[in-house]
Amino acid sequence: MSNNLDASSNSNVLARGRLAMLGAHLIPSELPHHDILQTLPLSAQLPPPNLAGTLTLVDDRTGKSYQLQVSKDGTVKASDLKKISAGQNDKGLKLYDPGYLNTAPVRSAISYIDGDEGVLRYRGYPIEELAEKSTFTEVSYLIMYGSLPSESQLAEWKFAISQHSALPQGVLDIIQSMPHDAHPMGVLVNAMSALSVFHPDANPALRGLDIYDSKQIRDKQITRVIGKITTIAAAVYLRMAGRPPVLPSNHLSYTENFLYMLDSFGNRSYKPNPRLTHALDIIFILHAEHEMNCSTSAVRHLASSGVDVYTAIAGAVGALYGPLHGGANEAVLKMLSEIGTAQNIPEFIEGVKARKRKLSGFGHRVYKNYDPRAKVLRKLAEEVFAIVGWDPLIEVAVALEKVALSDEYFIKRKLYPNVDFYSGLIYRAMGFPPEYFTVLFAIPRMAGYMAHWRESLDDPDTKIMRPQQVYIGECLRHYTPINARTTSSDADKLGDVAMSNASKRRLAGSGL
Ligand code: SDX
Repeated sequence: MSNNLDASSNSNVLARGRLAMLGAHLIPSELPHHDILQTLPLSAQLPPPNLAGTLTLVDDRTGKSYQLQVSKDGTVKASDLKKISAGQNDKGLKLYDPGYLNTAPVRSAISYIDGDEGVLRYRGYPIEELAEKSTFTEVSYLIMYGSLPSESQLAEWKFAISQHSALPQGVLDIIQSMPHDAHPMGVLVNAMSALSVFHPDANPALRGLDIYDSKQIRDKQITRVIGKITTIAAAVYLRMAGRPPVLPSNHLSYTENFLYMLDSFGNRSYKPNPRLTHALDIIFILHAEHEMNCSTSAVRHLASSGVDVYTAIAGAVGALYGPLHGGANEAVLKMLSEIGTAQNIPEFIEGVKARKRKLSGFGHRVYKNYDPRAKVLRKLAEEVFAIVGWDPLIEVAVALEKVALSDEYFIKRKLYPNVDFYSGLIYRAMGFPPEYFTVLFAIPRMAGYMAHWRESLDDPDTKIMRPQQVYIGECLRHYTPINARTTSSDADKLGDVAMSNASKRRLAGSGL
């Protein structure tokens, strides 16, 4: 008995010591919000300056000068460049901007990021304050409609979402019909796309392009998507566990209801752990919106064709699935598990610097400073581990972060931990399988997707998205009969498509 007690007291001492190490490493996030602001440079605390003016360009090819208007936001219209012609029967200048590194296709009031200062605000509210003081349900209303809700507005919002949390049986059947080892994000793409066929009332292809002019029809789709995503995500999770779906409860909060559907086995009196619910609710707040990220711009791109909102959302989920985007949290866990111990970090880092590997969870298109969401998640990890137990991989993560942040290769490229670096550890500690992590990202991000969809419908600048290209192919060729064709050895051609042994056996037969 005494040995067991010693062993358990030793493990407690060890766990406390480890948490102290993690705590010592964590950046204090208890700063009251006015201190958070005071840690920012003045430029990030003031409204953006008015940058309106003109640009005068001289085309050295022709000696002509042009004047371009600069907007108060500091933009020039790319289409204005078309008037700058070399006078060689050319079509004027285009912007070449792979990945849209410096191209703004929309104007939006939903979220603001200052990547250099590590600032993220939803409708003007710092993410740190919202994570500390708000709930995901309240934040999703803020993101959607632009202001924090009053008590009655919040109650109406909660009620509307709960009334749309049930799923058509056909969607549940589609989820159940997927291969048992299907990636949950692939199932989610199908489920979101299936909502389109189960809601013909919301389909412009059936009811006409003007159906989304109606605020009532828009709000119905918004509450359907926010309400149903947790039920879909829970059904996807239960399918992985070989368990039947559980109906949502209307008596629990949004995030509580999600965990209830995962863990209750249908016992209507089950209540999830309130501290774990609160931790997941904060994670949902952090993941709710992030301006024109790859998947949100996908929503806008698809919606610009007039397609129904569910199909546009399915496309966004497809973009989020990618390991360079929402799939990075899963990739982080695989990376940390592969590294295994802090001793293996130097060799791994050398592999990254030799460009053999990516440091998943590091780097960001916009943040060239610490992702503010990663700071909150690092602190949250400590709280979750105090409930569900320590994860030794957190030591690898903390050590890896320390090495990377002091290495010139990462410093020079301004690579810092992003939102995915710590979220995966928390999800794993909460018992979610790595392939499910991105589903947990998708749930809250529906708020951002739907807010951008809604904003695009009212934007007078919204046009069908049809980017230009720079043509680098053959100029002009004429058709030649097949017996006159010669193909050079370096011409692109079909590669070797491996044939399975089963196909070889079948083809070895006769009479095919
Ligand atoms: C999300 O956009 C959003 O807002 C997304 C998101 C959201 O909330 O929606 O914030 C969520 O997707 C976060 C990002 C998660 N992805 C990862 O953690 C995957 C690892 N990160 C990288 O693949 C990369 O940093 C990106 C994709 C996130 C950003 O890529 P960019 O902006 O195109 O930058 P880049 O690839 O041009 O990199 C610049 C340099 C390159 O080196 P050089 O060629 O100049 O020598 O930095 C290097 C890159 O090789 N680099 C990395 C790296 N990320 C960039 N090197 C090693 N490991 C990395 N992770």
